[in-house]
Amino acid sequence: MELTGKLAEAFNQQITLELAAATVYRQLAAEMEVQSFPGIAAWFRAQSGEEIEHAEKFIIHMTDRGAHPRIGEQPAPNLNIKSVEDAFAASLAHEQKVSESIRELYRVAQNESDIDSLPLLHWFIDEQVEEEATVGEILDRIRLVGDDGSGLLRIESELASRKSDS
Ligand code: FEO
Repeated sequence: MELTGKLAEAFNQQITLELAAATVYRQLAAEMEVQSFPGIAAWFRAQSGEEIEHAEKFIIHMTDRGAHPRIGEQPAPNLNIKSVEDAFAASLAHEQKVSESIRELYRVAQNESDIDSLPLLHWFIDEQVEEEATVGEILDRIRLVGDDGSGLLRIESELASRKSDS
């Protein structure tokens, strides 16, 4: 079944948002390098790679269905990061925005009676629940350790062990 024009446009917006998320995470990685947290920077770089994979999933779904993906304009990341806590708070806020966008995409798919896109969108709904939980948990732990440098370095070392995809 062909994607309707309305749904194709919503997919295009989601592709653009996922790529913008990748850019936000790259910027957060740079901020963490500047603040001498290379392990946390590596975690954000891996996250950036995941966002590109997310965009790719939507692109593949569109081309599989004979639609023409079009990447839109992305805003520059507008971040003011003074601490590790700021970085993860920005990350959580961005994930919440992506989650709402996925929900809206799901509503559009339902309104267009597009059953074929629902399995992909279910995958993304699950993925967003997981991403918000992961980032939220890291943020809670950062807030718990507060100004305790050794606690922060422990978190830094744990996050450094995440495998980078890009
Ligand atoms: Fe693709 Fe982290 O949302």
